[in-house]
Amino acid sequence: MTIIFHKNSRVFHLTNGKISYIMRVMENEQLESIYFGKCLNDRDGFEYQHEAVSRSHAAIALPEPSVLSMQYTAQEYPFAGTGDYRSPACTVLQENGSRISNFRYVSFDIELGKPLPEGLPATYCEESEEAETLIIHLKDDISETELHLFYTIFRDHPAIARHAEFVQNGSQAVYLERALSACVEFKDCDFEMLQLSGAWARERYIRKRPLEYGMQAVSSMTGTASSAEENPFIALKRKETTENQGEVWGFSLIYSGNFLAAAEVSTFDMTRVLIGINPESFTWKLMQGNTFATPEAVMVYSDQGLGTMSRVYHKLYRSRLVRGYWRDRPRPILLNNWEGTYFDFNEQKILSMALDARNLGVELFVLDDGWFGRRNTDRDSLGDWYCNRNKIPSGIDGLAEKIEAMGIRFGLWIEPEMVNEDSDFYRAHPDWVIHVPERYRSHSRHQYVLDFSRKEVVDCIHGIIRKILSEAKISYIKWDMNRYMTEPYSIALPADRQGEMMHRYILGVYDLYEKLTGEFPEILFESCASGGARFDPGMLYYAPQAWCSDDTDAWERCKIQYGTSMVYPLSAIGSHVSTVPNHQLARVTPLRTRANIAYFGTFGYELVIGNMSAEEKDAVRRQIAFMKKYRELIQTGSDLYRLRSPFEHNEAEWIVVSKDRKKALALFCQKSNRVNGSWLRMKLDGLEPSFMYRVFAFIDEGPREFTAYGDELMKIGIAIDRVDLTVMGGDYVSILYEIEAVSCADATPAQI
Ligand code: DGJ
Repeated sequence: MTIIFHKNSRVFHLTNGKISYIMRVMENEQLESIYFGKCLNDRDGFEYQHEAVSRSHAAIALPEPSVLSMQYTAQEYPFAGTGDYRSPACTVLQENGSRISNFRYVSFDIELGKPLPEGLPATYCEESEEAETLIIHLKDDISETELHLFYTIFRDHPAIARHAEFVQNGSQAVYLERALSACVEFKDCDFEMLQLSGAWARERYIRKRPLEYGMQAVSSMTGTASSAEENPFIALKRKETTENQGEVWGFSLIYSGNFLAAAEVSTFDMTRVLIGINPESFTWKLMQGNTFATPEAVMVYSDQGLGTMSRVYHKLYRSRLVRGYWRDRPRPILLNNWEGTYFDFNEQKILSMALDARNLGVELFVLDDGWFGRRNTDRDSLGDWYCNRNKIPSGIDGLAEKIEAMGIRFGLWIEPEMVNEDSDFYRAHPDWVIHVPERYRSHSRHQYVLDFSRKEVVDCIHGIIRKILSEAKISYIKWDMNRYMTEPYSIALPADRQGEMMHRYILGVYDLYEKLTGEFPEILFESCASGGARFDPGMLYYAPQAWCSDDTDAWERCKIQYGTSMVYPLSAIGSHVSTVPNHQLARVTPLRTRANIAYFGTFGYELVIGNMSAEEKDAVRRQIAFMKKYRELIQTGSDLYRLRSPFEHNEAEWIVVSKDRKKALALFCQKSNRVNGSWLRMKLDGLEPSFMYRVFAFIDEGPREFTAYGDELMKIGIAIDRVDLTVMGGDYVSILYEIEAVSCADATPAQI
């Protein structure tokens, strides 16, 4: 791994043997983007890549005979106003009203390892040899604003992490109106853009579109979340790129608030990718001595398809974004009471749910919404974080003690960023919610958003939550957030700083997370936002797992988890078995299928075990034992290969394969049953072609077993018998294959 600087050509080449990232300082002292992709041989002379051709109407950046035009130049971090009519990476408003800047190259530094931006989530190194960081220093002489561009290349990952920092040195105040995290330019536009779009209960559906001239973008403006509608991620892929072949470039933003991820194609067929904080409604005032750091963008390149890109993100995020005690630990199998009781519970009911769960092997009981204030509906009490003793006479500490005495752990739901109008907290602090004085305060789910851009608000909530966590034996926290922002305004900020409010809010959320996870390092935090509206890398830095969606229907979860896996590791995906008919869709799916899909995540239940038949309880006992056997493989010890997309087919298929390729677990699931349908073959991936494997499955409680070489399983596949599917129940049935390498001597002829 090296960062090379060629003095004569002033070319920077970042490479780790897998990828190359190349840029140079041009004659006008600005930075030209040259290349990002598969590793190239190094040479002193990449500057010939610059298109030095005179075009009509071009604005020329230097005195003649120069023909340097920014409109036709691929740029590293473009700014507007001097003839480049595409979208810039930054805009700096100055005292005289001008937005023209000229950040010119000053110098660079190279550091071993990776510096961490303060107060923001980011990827990190454990050993300084794991990465190298290039910092390019630029300066706009007129406004005296400095721009520092950070690039970290990882030794073990085909990935580059980038962010930018602005420092104001001059005496005038400047306003950042746009301060994106990264810009990457491509010299063609033959791409499809892949994005993860959705809504509440159908988050992160995979969508693709061919790039067209002009701007195509995904974004969030919700203020409180990266959102259920779009995810802070896009990929550019070649048309022919599939799961396991072809080029793809991924762009992921480690941020939980308003974001923009865009691809802009010029009519000269160049593609500019921009990613960062959404500039809409954003400004940041920089006074002398102030610094502003953007969130981090993580760019991944793969020439082996989407699957490899995802595995790079999984590995990097699982091991160098997620932190702390739970990073490498198997996650507890939990029972959450939400879908089982909603608000209708009391201590007796909770204790009996916990006991039933414990008896079947559950390790953690989670008490969801409804335990505090006077809360029996979603209309009141958010903010009143004291136990409702009418429902739980023993208090949270007493309840936790009783559940711990059963031999399982206790977890609790909170929604610390919110208040109901009908709450003692709101009555005491009506001005602490986000609102514009004298204007109507829109509510959503009968609640208001606390102004987390204000330190005193965050500090107060911190004190309250810290007290709860100190007084009771709490091992897990589900941190929920159930509404987007409206009337974004902070009464604590002056008029010229209102554009900072939504970013400051997210910084306040990060601050509270940092404090609580620092003080209670062994508590497992699960983030949640009306299901999966904050399933982003920013959250993963603080909470190693996230509730993936409020939709717990098995087939819907196939799609949601499949889409989520495009970027996020299985260890992050909160997935539970719920009852049928499903509460969101009224669909009935087999208990086995519900579990088979929930295994590929953190796993738990969200139903009343006491309402199940003896046979179902027995199945749950076996499922929990199964997950205990396989969770290490699924959550930390394997690579995921997506085999068949539920967005394109009637079936969903995927497999996790251990690092040594000796163990694997493959899922087949179908939506609707077909009469006399075509052959179904599940072609596996990731196995060692020369290993002999024993493949084992339960088909309608009858064990099936056969042996086959890895290459057969990958090239011919496993035959799925449609009669079996019908016998198992038809619609929504699934089969889980346990696969283990055996020595050739152990192998018996195929028995299926
Ligand atoms: C939304 C979450 O996604 C649910 O799981 C549940 O915790 C409810 N909020 C509680 O209000």
